[in-house]
Amino acid sequence: MEESTRISLFISLLLLLLVIFPLAFYDQSAARRNLKSYTAQIFSIGTSHLTSIKHQKQGVQTIEEGLSHARFNILRAIAVDNYTINNATNDFVPHGAVYRNPRAFHQSYLEMEKRFKIWAYKEGEPPIFHSGPTANIYSIEGHLIHEMEDGTNPFLTQDPSEAHVFFLPISITHIVSYVYRRDVPDYWGPLRRVVADYVDVIKEKYPYWNRSAGADHLFVACHDWGAYLSGNDTKRELYENSIRVVCNANTSEGFILNKDVTLAGINLPDGRIARPEKDIDPNQRTLLAFFAGGAHGYIREAVLNHWKGKDAEVVVYEYLPKGLNYYSFMKRSKFCLCPSGYEVGTPRITEAIFMGCVPVIIAVDYPLPFSDVLDWSKFSVQIPVEKISEIKVILKDISERRYRMLKSRVLQVQRHFVLHRPAKQYDLISMTLHSVWLRRLNVKLTY
Ligand SMILES: *[C@@H]1O[C@H](CO)[C@@H](O)[C@H](O)[C@H]1NC(C)=O
Ligand SMILES: *[C@@H]1O[C@H](CO)[C@@H](O)[C@H](O)[C@H]1NC(C)=O
Ligand SMILES: *[C@@H]1O[C@H](CO)[C@@H](O)[C@H](O)[C@H]1NC(C)=O
Ligand SMILES: *[C@@H]1O[C@H](CO)[C@@H](O)[C@H](O)[C@H]1NC(C)=O
Ligand SMILES: *[C@@H]1O[C@H](CO)[C@@H](O)[C@H](O)[C@H]1NC(C)=O
Repeated sequence: MEESTRISLFISLLLLLLVIFPLAFYDQSAARRNLKSYTAQIFSIGTSHLTSIKHQKQGVQTIEEGLSHARFNILRAIAVDNYTINNATNDFVPHGAVYRNPRAFHQSYLEMEKRFKIWAYKEGEPPIFHSGPTANIYSIEGHLIHEMEDGTNPFLTQDPSEAHVFFLPISITHIVSYVYRRDVPDYWGPLRRVVADYVDVIKEKYPYWNRSAGADHLFVACHDWGAYLSGNDTKRELYENSIRVVCNANTSEGFILNKDVTLAGINLPDGRIARPEKDIDPNQRTLLAFFAGGAHGYIREAVLNHWKGKDAEVVVYEYLPKGLNYYSFMKRSKFCLCPSGYEVGTPRITEAIFMGCVPVIIAVDYPLPFSDVLDWSKFSVQIPVEKISEIKVILKDISERRYRMLKSRVLQVQRHFVLHRPAKQYDLISMTLHSVWLRRLNVKLTY
C-alpha cells in the first residue's frame, strides 16, 4: 500500500473511532448506522439485531464499555498495518485465504477469550432441560447443552450480573422424544407450550429477559423442528430478538440472517466423537464425486434422479449396498456431494471435511456455518440446484491445481469442525460461541 493511502486510511479509521463510537453511546440511530459500517464489512454481519431497550443499570454500562473496547481493538488490529501476532503462548493463529479477514477474526477471538461471559438458567429438570442428544445426527445439540452445564467451559460464569448472554437450556430433540404425540389434535401445541412456558418462567423470575426483550438470550437446536418451535407462534420475542443457534437455518423458514446462527451438524452414530482422518495419498482418490443417502426432500431427489447408478466417476447410491463403507468412499473421492435433505443443513459437510474430501454444497437459502469468518468459496464448491445435471462437467472443469488448493484448505479448516469435550480453542463449540459473540458485539443495549 502507498504510504499516503495508508495514512489516509488510518486517519479515516481514527476519525471513525474518535468521532463515531462515542456518539454511539448517545445516539441510538447513529449507533445503528455506524455499527453497520463497522461489522458489516469486517464480518459478514448486518445490523438487524440492533435493539434498544431503555433501563437504568450500572453493571450493564460496564458490560457495554467492555464490548466497546472489544470493537475498538478489532478495528485497530485491522487498521494498523504492522499488526504483529503475539505468538508467545503458541496458540493457533488464523491465517490464509480461508478466512474473510484473519486479523479481524483473530482479534475478535482474543477479545472473546478475554471478555465473553455466558450465564445459563438453572430452571427446569432433565431430560427436556439441561440435557440433550449426544449421539446420531442431532448430537451437536446435546453436546452444546452439556457443555453449558458441566462448568468447565471458560466462557461460563456463575454471576449473571457479568453475563453478556443468557443461555436457555432447552432441548428440542428431547421435547420431541418425550412430549410429542402424533395422535392428539394440534400436536404442535404441547411442544410449543414447553418452550413458551420456560420463557414465561424466567421472564417472571429474573430481570434479564425484559431488559433486552430477549435479545441477549441464546438458544440451541439441531432438530429439524428447532426453528419452527422457536418461531413466531411460540414466543414472538424469542423469534424476533433472541440468538437462535440452529442446524435448520433455512432463511425461507424464518431463520434471520445476522441475528441467528447456523449450527454445523455432526453425525455420531454410536455417540463416539469422530475426528478428522489422516490424509491419504491424493493418487488414491480415484473417484470424482460421491454421495449416498435417502431421497429426503426435492434436492436429494434431483441428485438421485440424475446420478444414481449412472456414472463410474460420479458415484451416487440411494442406499449403500451391504459390505461397502460410506467413509472409505468419501476418502477415495475428490469431491463429496452435500445436498440438503429434509432440512437445509447436513452433517455430510462436516463428514466431508473430516475425510479431506472437498464438499460440494447443493442447497437453497442456507447460510453456511461460520460464514461470518470463513470464506467457503475457498474450500468448497457450490452448485445451484438447477445445475445438478451438470455436476460432472462442473467438477471436471476444476483444474488439478485448483483442486489441490481446495483440498489443502479443507485440511486447514478441519480444526473448526472438530468437537472436543470440554471444548478447545477454535473448535466446533468455540467457533459456534464465537458466532454468538459476534452477534452480541453487534447489539447495543442501552438499558
Ligand atoms: C507500528 O506502527 C506504529 C505507527 O503506525 C508504531 O508506533 C509502532 O511502533 C509500530 N510497531 C512495530 C512493532 O513496528
Ligand atoms: C505460533 O506458534 C506455533 C507453535 O510454535 C506455530 O505452529 C505457529 O505456526 C505459530 N504461528 C505463527 C503465525 O507464527
Ligand atoms: C417482565 O414483563 C412482564 C410483562 O411483559 C411481567 O409480567 C413480568 O413480571 C416482568 N418480569 C419482571 C421480573 O419484572
Ligand atoms: C410474526 O408475527 C407478527 C405479528 O403477528 C407479524 O407481524 C410478523 O410478520 C410475523 N413474522 C413472521 C416471520 O411470520
Ligand atoms: C426451506 O424453506 C422453504 C419454505 O418453507 C421450503 O420450501 C424449502 O423446502 C426448505 N428447504 C429445505 C431444504 O427444507
